Amino acid sequence: MTQVKRSRYFVVSYGDEQVVDLGAFLRGRVEMAQGTHISAVSSLTEAAHRVTAGDLDLLGRVSSHEWVARSRLAADNGVPEAAVDALAAAGLLISDADDPVLRRLRQREESLRSSQWHPCASFYHLMAKNPDGLNKDGGKLFDLASVAAGSQDATDAFVARYGLPPAPFHEARGDGETVRLPMIDQQGGLYRALASRRTVRSFDRGTPMRSEDLATLLYWVFGCHGHTTLSKGVPLLGKTSPSGGSLHPVEVYPLVRNVADIERGLYHYRLRDHSLARIRPLEEWEAEALAIGMAAGQDFAAAAHVLLLMTARFYRNFWKYRRNVRTHSVILQDVAHLSQTLYLVCADLGLGAFYAAHDGFFVDEALALDGVEESAVGLAGCGVRPSGGMDYALDFVPYTPGETEV
Ligand SMILES: Cc1cc2nc3c(=O)[nH]c(=O)nc-3n(C[C@H](O)[C@H](O)[C@H](O)COP(=O)(O)O)c2cc1C
Repeated sequence: MTQVKRSRYFVVSYGDEQVVDLGAFLRGRVEMAQGTHISAVSSLTEAAHRVTAGDLDLLGRVSSHEWVARSRLAADNGVPEAAVDALAAAGLLISDADDPVLRRLRQREESLRSSQWHPCASFYHLMAKNPDGLNKDGGKLFDLASVAAGSQDATDAFVARYGLPPAPFHEARGDGETVRLPMIDQQGGLYRALASRRTVRSFDRGTPMRSEDLATLLYWVFGCHGHTTLSKGVPLLGKTSPSGGSLHPVEVYPLVRNVADIERGLYHYRLRDHSLARIRPLEEWEAEALAIGMAAGQDFAAAAHVLLLMTARFYRNFWKYRRNVRTHSVILQDVAHLSQTLYLVCADLGLGAFYAAHDGFFVDEALALDGVEESAVGLAGCGVRPSGGMDYALDFVPYTPGETEV
């Protein structure tokens, strides 16, 4: 006897749509009427499913922790068993049936629960996987011409449509007192790196990156520099960037395209012994196609000497914070710190670096990640700067507070 229970990992939303007015249609006229569609997005199937008000009514009568016989549920709600099966196939009901698809959905629900995913966090992570929303088709999302310095047309058209953005300088309301601060000249390497940090999106394809630079970068951005013990059996690692709870759930997978003495391929950076563990070698075309796909269609990523794919081992963080909706954002904040550290180390080494949007579906598939235990959370790239001018770079001129007019 097949039993079912309700999944905890779906979100229901209502949308408006134009539908053919059936009354008018029966009178021989084609008229459109306003309709409502309901969809349920499941973290188990990673897809949106059309549902009816009747389906929601049925789902509302099923417990998420107690099994109920599929036949009884159908009979009690006056629906055919096939309607219950459709909800199970959509990941909205969990079924104990011995079917490979339903078993996979059941295991995913168990895995989300046991690794302490909050339903809202899992929904947010799913929706953010593709920068274009829940569209697994990929495709080119960014018009590079619109970000390239000097190409004003696209921006002008954008402003014409949406108006101006809020002003860049903000003055908070206060009692009117201001304290002018002195400009302190700072010379050290850190300040030079801060001043020269820039997003670089074009690279010298003819010159390989030095393996020493890759080693420096990985050690000083992602490497382990110290350790301590929180309590028996709970060692913590010390790194150059801070991490919520000192748990460092972020892993890095370098896609090495053009580095001297290191074969082109996809690797995992192993902190324990500061080594690159190869996942698989890559042909040149394959490395470039992967880079573009991972960077959500942004083709400058293909020229980067190394792409750095950041993933999170979620339970490393959720272990401490348990089923808490906020800690997903804590992990993203860890990524942001790593990104800035990466920019600064690259600036110090004289390398170009970028942080960019990623396609989570694409990266998870390329790295064979399940999206529950581990999933993509960030993407950066770096490499040798081109000797001539740089494409796609904003051209900032110096600014002196209180003197320069903007
Ligand atoms: C969270 C974040 C996301 C970004 N995403 C992209 C992106 O998808 N594509 C891109 O070309 N640049 C991306 N950037 C880089 C910004 O465009 C860049 O930082 C900005 O233009 C300012 O230039 P600067 O870094 O040289 O100061 C991103 C930066 C951040 C911090």
